[in-house]
Amino acid sequence: MCIDLNTPWTIGSVEIPTRLVLAPMAGVSVQAFRRQGRRYGAGLVCSEMVSCAGLSHKNERTLGYLRIGRDEHPLAVQIFGSEPGVMAEAARMVEAAGADLVDINFGCPVRKVTKTGAGASLLDEPHRAAAIVEAVAEAVDVPVCVKMRRGVENGSRTALEVGPQLVDAGAASLTLHPRSAQQMYTGTADHTLTAELVELVDVPVVASGDITSRGRAESILAESGCAAVMVGRVAQGNPWAVGEIAGIVEGTPTREEVVAELLHFMRDTVAEMGEQRATGFLKKFYGWYLGRGRFPKPFANELVRLETIDQVEERLLAAAPGAAASSRSSTRSMVSSRTSSLANGFGKRPRPRYQP
Ligand SMILES: Cc1cc2nc3c(=O)[nH]c(=O)nc-3n(C[C@H](O)[C@H](O)[C@H](O)COP(=O)(O)O)c2cc1C
Repeated sequence: MCIDLNTPWTIGSVEIPTRLVLAPMAGVSVQAFRRQGRRYGAGLVCSEMVSCAGLSHKNERTLGYLRIGRDEHPLAVQIFGSEPGVMAEAARMVEAAGADLVDINFGCPVRKVTKTGAGASLLDEPHRAAAIVEAVAEAVDVPVCVKMRRGVENGSRTALEVGPQLVDAGAASLTLHPRSAQQMYTGTADHTLTAELVELVDVPVVASGDITSRGRAESILAESGCAAVMVGRVAQGNPWAVGEIAGIVEGTPTREEVVAELLHFMRDTVAEMGEQRATGFLKKFYGWYLGRGRFPKPFANELVRLETIDQVEERLLAAAPGAAASSRSSTRSMVSSRTSSLANGFGKRPRPRYQP
């Protein structure tokens, strides 16, 4: 059966207007990124993973991850940790902050996380994993979701054993990134496993991994029977890919559009985290926005070396003067599409085809 990407679906009582979910990405999924994802058609956006220990210790930086804008809903905040009680306490804080969903990370393959018994390593400890889900589901009224890898070792099928146990423990949705933790990001995501998981559980399954175009999204929806698809790396500096998958953007953006969107993103980020933090944080985004053949390679490197955001803005506008007007109108259209996005999912914003 072919599901229309632009139809609503639900996780528990939470209605999600499209079948497109913006992936949680550490160091990327700030509010500016999530808002941009909503503007380009993502029905659900997620925070990056937040340490439950950091929340428990009221660490100032960690608490900052619980800042949620009115225009971000529906939004999942993802937490990671290994102690059911601490995770439950973190989940209560996430719910109190206004998140629509609490997402639990059983997928992070990074050693710093797995060595604490959190992330993907919990797939090898199904009892503890289920105890975490149960404690979190008991602690909050909002639906609890789990995001996981296929397992720890290459070729692992652990997700198929653990997934149903997590649903029994109270998970209202499962997201599967069917690579092993060992694989990190190499090889490909094997969505035949996603299809198998769909058969085993009676909650919505979200497919994550290598979904880079509308065609691919549609075929994974059809072939796996998943409820929604999640996009991650392709969205970095590339909201047009999100829009293409959502069916609201056609063609390649012009240089002016790229610069206008980057300026918009930079301003949103500065408003969110202050100029000093934003200056360093934004550097990786310059390559993501200005690469992909959009500008000559040395341009992004030049921006990275500049010391202030003002200098970067000035240089960007010198390279694409038309972006100044475009950036103002994009802010205006964002505000109006935000209004409609709250009312009916997202504002359809047709954009012109690329003119060489
Ligand atoms: C930089 C980066 C950070 C990530 N951080 C998280 C995270 O905090 N939580 C999580 O569940 N997955 C995280 N992921 C995994 C993504 O959510 C996603 O599952 C993965 O990138 C595969 O999807 P893609 O092929 O669309 O990128 C991260 C991925 C990347 C590239």
